[in-house]
Amino acid sequence: METLLSVQDLKTYFYTGDGPIKAIDGLSFDLIKGTVFGLVGESGCGKSVTALSIMRILPPAGKTVSGKIIFKGDDLLGKTEVEMRGIRGGEISMIFQEPIASLNPIFTIGYQIEEAILSHLKVSKRESKKRVVELLKAVGMPSPEIRVKDYPHQLSGGMCQRVMIAMAMACEPSLIIADEPTTALDVTIQAQILDLLRKIREESGTSMIMITHDLGIIAEVADSVAVMYTGRIVESTDTKTIFRDPRHPYTIGLLDSLPKGKGEKLVAIPGMVPKPSELPEGCKFSTRCRYVIEECQSSEPPLKEIDTGHWVRCIRAGEIKRL
Ligand SMILES: Nc1ncnc2c1ncn2[C@@H]1O[C@H](COP(=O)(O)OP(=O)(O)O)[C@@H](O)[C@H]1O
Ligand SMILES: [Mg+2]
Repeated sequence: METLLSVQDLKTYFYTGDGPIKAIDGLSFDLIKGTVFGLVGESGCGKSVTALSIMRILPPAGKTVSGKIIFKGDDLLGKTEVEMRGIRGGEISMIFQEPIASLNPIFTIGYQIEEAILSHLKVSKRESKKRVVELLKAVGMPSPEIRVKDYPHQLSGGMCQRVMIAMAMACEPSLIIADEPTTALDVTIQAQILDLLRKIREESGTSMIMITHDLGIIAEVADSVAVMYTGRIVESTDTKTIFRDPRHPYTIGLLDSLPKGKGEKLVAIPGMVPKPSELPEGCKFSTRCRYVIEECQSSEPPLKEIDTGHWVRCIRAGEIKRL
């Protein structure tokens, strides 16, 4: 098992006037080469900021203040901007939530995929044109030879996401970061895009970080998973274990709020994610936790390995079971 990416004690803060907003506060995880690592949590928990930190494309107010992002043995935080440009789209590519907004409206999709190829690979114009058609075929675009001339607005959301995936695959990256790639799409299209990502992973062995608020998607595509809350990991393990033996009350809450069969009631997690400026002392989930005891409010529990490869940030992890 080779580690492709190792994020170590990452801290990314936003500076917006009154004090830093600690969006990511001590995040660590390893991605094993050839696997899909899922990052899951409610909106605002820091999933996208994690992706933007890895790609080093944070908005101006955001800064990674400490930590390491070791990719293929090198710390990405030590790279120059020029070096990062070679890595983005070449070694690591990203797929975003809004496929239409991520494409340039004034260029054809063929042109945009070709640009992605030519900016990283030394191939002839003719070869790159051929590759564009192959890529579009691989992502399931019907009549790719004709569709290369389409502009983004001529395609559906699902087709635009296929184009984005083709662009992400253009330079055969070692890592694809997919940030809620199906959230903006209809359910049936969602399933098709997930199938496509699974196929890519099987056929090309590309490693992936799958970011989602939906544990159902984790179940379908991820090998291992980290559950995030307020910019930290609260539980991480392999996908089977997270469903069979979840131990953090937040993970249990997410599982209980998953839609089940007809007639069964959804149980939402009470309350809201606290604002980064209003985090409680001690365990950050203590304000919403039904297992909370006094001790939880005094100091933040560390991530503890309760079983091989199963890490939980909860002092009561040993006694908690999902009913
Ligand atoms: N541009 C920004 N300016 C200030 N704070 C931001 C900005 N983007 C994100 N944040 C902060 O980072 C937190 C995590 O955001 P994000 O990673 O986008 O969450 P999500 O898990 O929904 O992707 C937000 O709750 C917010 O407090
Ligand atoms: Mg997000």
